[in-house]
Amino acid sequence: MTVGIVGCGAIASIITDFALEGKLGVDLKFFYDQDLEMAKKLSSKVDGITVPTVHDMLDHVDLVIEAASQQAVGKIVPPILKRGKDVIIMSVGALIDPELKNHLETIAMETKSRIHTPSGAIVGLDGIKAASIGNITEVNLVTQKPPESLGIPADKETVLYEGKASAAVHKFPMNMNVAATLSLACKMETNVKIIADPEIQHNCHEVHVVGDFGELRTTTQNRSCNTNPKTSVLAAYSAIKLLKSLNENSRIGT
Ligand SMILES: NC(=O)c1ccc[n+]([C@@H]2O[C@H](COP(=O)([O-])OP(=O)(O)OC[C@H]3O[C@@H](n4cnc5c(N)ncnc54)[C@H](O)[C@@H]3O)[C@@H](O)[C@H]2O)c1
Repeated sequence: MTVGIVGCGAIASIITDFALEGKLGVDLKFFYDQDLEMAKKLSSKVDGITVPTVHDMLDHVDLVIEAASQQAVGKIVPPILKRGKDVIIMSVGALIDPELKNHLETIAMETKSRIHTPSGAIVGLDGIKAASIGNITEVNLVTQKPPESLGIPADKETVLYEGKASAAVHKFPMNMNVAATLSLACKMETNVKIIADPEIQHNCHEVHVVGDFGELRTTTQNRSCNTNPKTSVLAAYSAIKLLKSLNENSRIGT
């Protein structure tokens, strides 16, 4: 399987390092970034091809990984799907917009392409997906990050936001993909609390889901990426696991 990547920052860099070590299970070949130098830097690591627009890779790839931004999703994902190519969307926050989500799903249905959204920076999504077969009545997310991960100064623990996921995704686009992923998996709005805490070292997500199945709580303490403190290493790993699973004959978990 030949794969292209759009957005050559922190997540793409971890994925490319796995490709370099031959541990990706696919041929990561095409690189595009609005900052051409970023694309060149990564593609040179794996003898890849830098392209000036996303369209220039579409004849040659089976799947494109979007690892750019929420705005990029609306622009670059429709042409990918229209060409019948599969896509992995990392900027899941964009899909909280029902119009965009429906638009992408309609194209995917017409062209028989697939939209994959990895579990990202939280654990437990397998169980949550299984739980969503029954009724889910409540989803809560408490995100605690060091101030630099949230891009704000804070010298003491500070609650930055309390409310619905849909608004949180717009206020904190680089930090609230997990809230969007949870809302999409549960098919309901997640209640979100965001805390900046100068005493903590990790990006932490506490998830609490209630439904017909019972109740679950998960805690994820993430190490952030070296080049982007807003992004957790686990998010890149979840895309890598998803890529590897595309070739697996036997799968564990939902
Ligand atoms: N699903 C999750 O749990 C999760 C977790 C972390 C990050 N993310 C999201 O994944 C995306 C990538 O994260 P990252 O840490 O690698 O970001 P990053 O800022 O390190 O890198 C993003 C790269 O994309 C490029 N880019 C931005 N907009 C573009 C566009 N329209 N077209 C082409 N290139 C564009 C930038 O130049 C940059 O090089 C972000 O949207 C981030 O919010 C998702």
